[in-house]
Amino acid sequence: MKKLWSGRFQKETSQLVDDFHSSIGFDCRLYRQDIRGSIAHAAMLGRQGILTPEETRLIIDGLKEILAEIEAGRVEFSREAEDIHLNIEQLLIAKIGEPGKKLHTARSRNDQVALDVRLYLKEEIDGIARLLQELQSALLDLAEKHVDTVMPGYTHLQRAQPITFAHHLLAYVQMFDRDRERLRDCYRRTDVLPLGAGALAGTTLPIDPHYVARELGFSAVAENTLDAVSDRDFIVEFLAAAALIMVHLSRLGEEIVLWASAEFGFVELDDAYSTGSSMMPQKKNPDVAELVRGKAGRVFGDLVSLLTVLKGLPLAYNKDLQEDKEALFDAVDTVKKCLLVFRPLVATLQVNKEKMARAAGEGFTNATDLADYLVGKGVPFREAHGITGRIVYYCLQEKKTLAELALEEYKQFSPVIEGDVYQFIAIDRCVKARRSPGGPSPDEVRRAIARAKERLEKG
Ligand code: ARG
Repeated sequence: MKKLWSGRFQKETSQLVDDFHSSIGFDCRLYRQDIRGSIAHAAMLGRQGILTPEETRLIIDGLKEILAEIEAGRVEFSREAEDIHLNIEQLLIAKIGEPGKKLHTARSRNDQVALDVRLYLKEEIDGIARLLQELQSALLDLAEKHVDTVMPGYTHLQRAQPITFAHHLLAYVQMFDRDRERLRDCYRRTDVLPLGAGALAGTTLPIDPHYVARELGFSAVAENTLDAVSDRDFIVEFLAAAALIMVHLSRLGEEIVLWASAEFGFVELDDAYSTGSSMMPQKKNPDVAELVRGKAGRVFGDLVSLLTVLKGLPLAYNKDLQEDKEALFDAVDTVKKCLLVFRPLVATLQVNKEKMARAAGEGFTNATDLADYLVGKGVPFREAHGITGRIVYYCLQEKKTLAELALEEYKQFSPVIEGDVYQFIAIDRCVKARRSPGGPSPDEVRRAIARAKERLEKG
């Protein structure tokens, strides 16, 4: 088949070049967007009198038939035809003849591909935001069951202060809220129609991009034709948002890996969401969480590769831009797969409350509370910190917890300590008393869950 652009060429393209620059292998997945865009473009050309009503009808019907044929698996794309745009145009010409040759009037593949990718990304952003919502709602369901489940909070991965499992989970709900916000923001800038920009400088024909924008559901039309065909910022923004989603998933994944270890023993993964070892019969591994952690790397790579493609690229379209799609598709697929598997993994997590409570009771997580107790008795905080530190050191020598220390022992460190200290440093009270905004007290956490649910419902 002769290339649609072969007019000024005397020779056939080398096979090597066809193999090298053809993008049909990956951009074939844009066939729906490409056809949708072409139908709107043809309808506009018809309205503007650039095509006759008969030509317009033939083109639109032909495109619809091609769509059905592709969906039925009856189309084999050709690598010589280069990309999805030329493939579909070629199929249309083969199907309806002469009128098909008019579809590309006032259009270039440069504005066409920018349109297709924007249509694609708008849909995917919505889908990913929904998956995030579903994961958040699984986290909230689990949190609701563990408002009173005390666990140690960590800094430097050392036991620090007592919190609850619900409070810990809510931290992730917040991260995913911000992720959804970033996606919404990126959507706004993706929602701009580039079609009409032509190759780079618009067209002399009387087109109406505003009509096309309305037909395709875009909120705005690109302001500058050069920018319209060379802008891939919206993909960078999406990839950055996707990279952060992966950062958040990898942090949760890492915590689940730690919690599922015998050393922590805080959670047990459901059999359906864990895997075994080919050699060690006893193993139950958190492969899913690990793999999510590992897959973060490829999404960061996608972001960096697109940034690198764009850096220093002169205006307007350059073939380098074709490299945007594999990075984008890979990030979309990866993020979706990770979110999809994480929701049930979280929803089926078995929580070992006793282990969590024991860990919270053993690591001097109430030492700050003891210092606060002394502060309440008029001791300056810096001094209270020193006294408590010495008490902790004493406990470590005696192999006792703060709760196990006798009042006489306490008195040796400070005369202001009375019998009420035990009640004050009881772990449950330490958690309940942390009622500062956003803190772990069950009342505060219940309110936070209610607010998070409200946000989730709003979408
Ligand atoms: N396959 C190309 C891409 O993905 C479409 C645009 C090609 N335009 C061109 N002038 N070669 O970027």
